[in-house]
Amino acid sequence: MNTTKSNRLVMNVIDGDQTGNLPIWMMRQAGRYLPEYKATRKEAGSFLDLCYNPDLAVKVTLQPIDRFGFDAAILFSDILVIPDALGVNVRFEEGRGPILETVDQTTIPNLNGDNVLTHLAPVLETVGRLREELPSETTLLGFCGAPWTVATYMIAGHGTPDQGPARQFSLNHPDSFQILIDKLVEASSNYLIAQLKAGADAVQIFDSWASVLDEQQFERWCVEPVRKIVENVRMEIPNAKIIGFPKGVGAFYKGYAKKTGVNMLGLDWTIPMSFAQELQSEVPVQGNLDPNRLIAGGRALDEGIDAILENLSAGPLVFNLGHGITPLTPIPHVQQMVDRVRAFRR
Ligand code: CP3
Repeated sequence: MNTTKSNRLVMNVIDGDQTGNLPIWMMRQAGRYLPEYKATRKEAGSFLDLCYNPDLAVKVTLQPIDRFGFDAAILFSDILVIPDALGVNVRFEEGRGPILETVDQTTIPNLNGDNVLTHLAPVLETVGRLREELPSETTLLGFCGAPWTVATYMIAGHGTPDQGPARQFSLNHPDSFQILIDKLVEASSNYLIAQLKAGADAVQIFDSWASVLDEQQFERWCVEPVRKIVENVRMEIPNAKIIGFPKGVGAFYKGYAKKTGVNMLGLDWTIPMSFAQELQSEVPVQGNLDPNRLIAGGRALDEGIDAILENLSAGPLVFNLGHGITPLTPIPHVQQMVDRVRAFRR
């Protein structure tokens, strides 16, 4: 037993602890299901204005902590601040999501990473202020998008059902796509290092679109770039704690942590519990409640929570959703989930 174990539950789990109380937080926990978020969002103007305003970004990051006492706070920002920092025009339209200036073979070589950290200075200031304001036991998570997922938006210029445009581009122009991915690896590495230096306790890499690729493409565009980011970050911060979340990748989850070097694996809800247990015997896991159970509430919610507790609580687990909470979720259902997980004793 480690007698110097801290009361930072999330960090303990990342280090492999499976004995303390179960920590809980939610992906997208600051967001439109909260009236206080919607009010601050209105005050800020555009979505990116909110991301780049430290006063307001600190405020919305803390809103779900104040309401539910989650064990981790996740920096309020977006994965698409990286293309914005590379000089690509990004905006968020009400009801449509992100709209980006597209990149192609001609423009990819011109993307310039020199100003990334200057551009993102307000976000780094938010990180520092959050670490000062949060209680010491609350883990502060920074994050970035994985290069593949960010690239899918840069190629298509908007969200698509299956990221067809980026899949096609990566097959037709692999050399050009490699340049784009390499630029994203470099910018994301520098950004994560800066977040950790500014006060983030750990960082999460979101690969929300990792599930649409075949094995060769997955290895090249998802595994390898994330491995490089982890390597770059650890060259600067050897002990850096990194959570990998290649959402929806099924059998490809196996070996992902080992190949990339991440300390914890985020799981979505579509994998069998027996497989989740197998993964958990190799690496701490985070997840994996279907966000739709959180919308449904009642028995559907309790049964989903209990399945996770029964199957995964004997190993290192951070309780979370399998993807972000949606705006439709009733707040009392979130409270129901928090109460049930907190009442659980191993
Ligand atoms: O988790 C948190 O609370 C931290 C903040 C956070 C946001 N986006 C805020 C946000 C995080 C970690 C993200 C990650 C993100 N952003 C991902 C990866 C995770 C995932 O959801 O798959 C992706 C793919 C994006 C890109 C993005 N941002 C899309 C596709 C959209 C539009 C869809 C939507 O939900 O509106 C966004 C907008 C966005 N990012 C909102 C929030 C709170 C809603 C916009 C608003 O408030 O006006």
